[in-house]
Amino acid sequence: MLKYSKKYKLYQILLGISDAVDLISPELNSHHHKVAYLSYRIASELGLSVQECRTVMTQGLVHDIGALSVDERLSLLEEEPITVNSHAFRGAKLLSKCSTFAGMAEAIRYHHLPWDYGRGREFGGNPVPLNSHILHLADRVSVYIGSPINVISRSSKMIDYFYKSANSLYSPMLIEVLAELAKKEYIWLEMTDKSPMNFLPQEVVDLGELSLDEVLELAKVISHVIDFRSRFTATHSVGVARVAEKLAELSGMSGEECKMMLIAGYFHDLGKLAIKNSILEKPGKLTASEYNVIREHTFYTYKLLSGIDGFATINQWASFHHEKLNGKGYPFHLTADQIPLGSRIMTVADIFTAVTEHRPYRSGVDREQVKSIFRVLVEAGEVCGVVVDTLINNIDLFVDLCHKSQQEAVADYESFFEDDKLNANAV
Ligand SMILES: [Fe+2]
Ligand SMILES: [Fe+2]
Ligand SMILES: [Fe+2]
Repeated sequence: MLKYSKKYKLYQILLGISDAVDLISPELNSHHHKVAYLSYRIASELGLSVQECRTVMTQGLVHDIGALSVDERLSLLEEEPITVNSHAFRGAKLLSKCSTFAGMAEAIRYHHLPWDYGRGREFGGNPVPLNSHILHLADRVSVYIGSPINVISRSSKMIDYFYKSANSLYSPMLIEVLAELAKKEYIWLEMTDKSPMNFLPQEVVDLGELSLDEVLELAKVISHVIDFRSRFTATHSVGVARVAEKLAELSGMSGEECKMMLIAGYFHDLGKLAIKNSILEKPGKLTASEYNVIREHTFYTYKLLSGIDGFATINQWASFHHEKLNGKGYPFHLTADQIPLGSRIMTVADIFTAVTEHRPYRSGVDREQVKSIFRVLVEAGEVCGVVVDTLINNIDLFVDLCHKSQQEAVADYESFFEDDKLNANAV
């Protein structure tokens, strides 16, 4: 039996997730890291406790998690569009489902709420956390400051710009704090560095550890971020995760390994967060260059998960799902002896879920077609015959399981967007 690290560092997991939404799109320029960094500096200058600084830094790292598409995330960098609150409300909704973040969701919900001469202290009779206003200011300042080129000149001009909106958009108290920070060159040099998080004190980035069950809960939330960008992908990661978990169980894996497989399934397409919806949703065949963009995603899943201590096995199971036993897969061209059982299971779960889903360009296939698709793949030496036998011998069970988990995911998807416009317009 393999031995696994029982605890996983929350900070490392969050860096992987925030990198997934920023780092791969150069235009986003580490936005979440910058906002996390500056939120911490503001909180620290305000004299908040280490614990409070940690909380607002963490909120900064995930604040735009509800902005699902690359296009939506880019639009938030230009200005605050009329629909700006949609992603904030959605982000809060996602995070409130996860016990690690439930207490932080309110601040995310209101992170674009204007101060409005003090009326922004509450919304609909509910108090608005101070952290919402810190995040709001940190978000706008980090966009204003932008790149490291001439950053000292820009930081000294910045304060005049933000003073104009003191009281209307931002809390005057926070603008005073910003004025103090504006005098210190190192803050702006650090914030625009490639890795601003490296400058934060250890006690602030030490967010503690999660158990496997807590990682599982967080991974499910992230699978919604990955899937909910499009109606056509809304059920994919959840379907893959459940099918892979069941295949693991039927292949004799332990209870703990089955949970790891579920987590790997939720994360397997993490690298797809960087792919634009125009490619994901394209009806009809992809061009060669569009297909090459798709082919990048497992490399990024691998890279993003590789920074998490104790995640090596989960990472291999998640990231090798487009490798083939005959060495013709991507991106590592691994061969049979290098592809562990868990990765073979993920490949079969991914193919099975994908071919039974309805996509913009085709509808799902039936059980007989599933069998013949896998027969061809096994004969070509691409996928593992043993895992395929487990699937085919229990085909009714897997069709049922996939169908049920996809139905649940559709219900989640619909309720997720249900009050989107309502909330946005109410602000
Ligand atoms: Fe935002
Ligand atoms: Fe933002
Ligand atoms: Fe994939």
